[in-house]
Amino acid sequence: MAASLLSLGLTERQLPAESAAARESLATARNLVQCSLDQLKTVIYDLRPTMLDDIGLVAALRWYVKARVEASGVQVETQFDQTPGWPRPLPAVEIALYRVAQEALANAVKHAEARRVELGLVLRPGYAALTVFDDGKGFDAEEVRGRGLGLLSMRERVAQLGGQLNVVTEPGLGTRVYAVIPLEPRAGVEGASS
Ligand SMILES: Nc1ncnc2c1ncn2[C@@H]1O[C@H](COP(=O)(O)OP(=O)(O)OP(=O)(O)O)[C@@H](O)[C@H]1O
Ligand SMILES: [Mg+2]
Repeated sequence: MAASLLSLGLTERQLPAESAAARESLATARNLVQCSLDQLKTVIYDLRPTMLDDIGLVAALRWYVKARVEASGVQVETQFDQTPGWPRPLPAVEIALYRVAQEALANAVKHAEARRVELGLVLRPGYAALTVFDDGKGFDAEEVRGRGLGLLSMRERVAQLGGQLNVVTEPGLGTRVYAVIPLEPRAGVEGASS
């Protein structure tokens, strides 16, 4: 789509000055492509759960980091620790972990003025732990109460699955988000009932 936009722009420049009608239809075409591109970006950004299901949690997180965090100039270090061969967490858990990471990373980009972010995910029999640390300006939890929905929704998502979310921060000292969600024993996992 971006290439089509460029190509339409090029064509427009090659038109003789008197081709007003052609210019107009090219401008309409460009608007249409631009709108579709914007909508597509929104859809990808939201990454519907079905897509998360297709590519998996780690791949989805890598995509988000590259497209949304590194692209905005923040350096990210990722550490994904998943025992090979073990089954994936239930979709509800993967969705919650993805959404929490997305919101914590979005906050680091939007508010923290961070230079560096660390994203960690550990999946073990019995629990999943997600961490998002930034080296930004931190904040006073009391002061920001009621300012947005992000922190609240992260907490609710994790609590709904029986887990816990902790946000450790102080002005000037960066922000650390810890989410831990218990994992149900599943077939193939050590200790699971047959
Ligand atoms: N990593 C962070 N670094 C610095 N400040 C933060 C960070 N995360 C959150 N904050 C502060 O806490 C406030 C509340 O965050 P929250 O995610 O709940 O809402 P929001 O990001 O403002 O809006 P929303 O998430 O609903 O789009 C922010 O407005 C910001 O002032
Ligand atoms: Mg937010």
